[in-house]
Amino acid sequence: MKKVRTAIFPVAGLGTRFLPATKASPKEMLIVGDMPLIQHAVVEAMEAGIERFIFITSQGKTAIEDHFDSNQLLENVLQERSKIEDLAKVRQTQLEPGQAIFIRQQHPLGLGHAVWCARHLIQDEPFALLLADDLILSQTPCTKQLVQAYENNGPGNYTAVMEVAAEKVSRYGILDIADQKNGVISARSVVEKPDPETSPSRTAIVGRYILDPRVFNHINTQKVGIGQEIQLTDAFNPMIAQNIPFSGVLFEGERFDCGTKEGWLEANIAYAYNDPELQPSLLKAITKYHS
Ligand code: G1P
Repeated sequence: MKKVRTAIFPVAGLGTRFLPATKASPKEMLIVGDMPLIQHAVVEAMEAGIERFIFITSQGKTAIEDHFDSNQLLENVLQERSKIEDLAKVRQTQLEPGQAIFIRQQHPLGLGHAVWCARHLIQDEPFALLLADDLILSQTPCTKQLVQAYENNGPGNYTAVMEVAAEKVSRYGILDIADQKNGVISARSVVEKPDPETSPSRTAIVGRYILDPRVFNHINTQKVGIGQEIQLTDAFNPMIAQNIPFSGVLFEGERFDCGTKEGWLEANIAYAYNDPELQPSLLKAITKYHS
């Protein structure tokens, strides 16, 4: 079976929910804990064995490219000052030459289109897709859990899934469930952002995927879906019809929607709470403002 070696990170979005913070700085560079969101996703991918990192960017996103590059000036200064720990932190963010690839998505045409922009680089291997807005805290990195499901169950499309409240189904891709075995749900079909009244379930796609390379034959760049965007979810149904299974993996862990201010704030609280050095200060601050 082919190994999952490549990951795609769509980072072209405008991040309007976080304005003015994201006016001149990418939303993927918002910090949770001590790392920007995009680094959390890259580290998670590395822990799942990913070796090649494809970023789908747009104008104004060069901070992401710089973040994963070397910064010789900074390294020299840290070296001179014997700041060894800080130096290690800076070097950790540097991807090897040729490991990081940046492609521009010239128009904001949706997730399906963003993935399609990488079609010439993927060839015939399965690949991971990570949406950095979705931050996942877990024992085993979520992408690794998906890779394990792929290795156990064979080729097909896999996504992390979780149950959401009925009134929130219209924010997600939702599975029509055929069967469930050992935490892996097999879907009869998937629908992007359904109305709560007609939604086939409350089992929602979270931003982690292992995708079959045949997906590129089915991303229909001529047909816009819901929200006037080319939806990745719309590529899955014709694949299911061709017996390429679609599986939802009920992952272990907690997911934070860092595409919203509330989710981003909660993620930061969770990080601080889980950090023995920061926890006392966090609790003290909350008591101060809440008393
Ligand atoms: C995207 C996907 C959707 C998925 C969601 C997870 O939607 O299209 O299927 O459920 O990510 O975060 P977006 O949040 O980009 O609207």
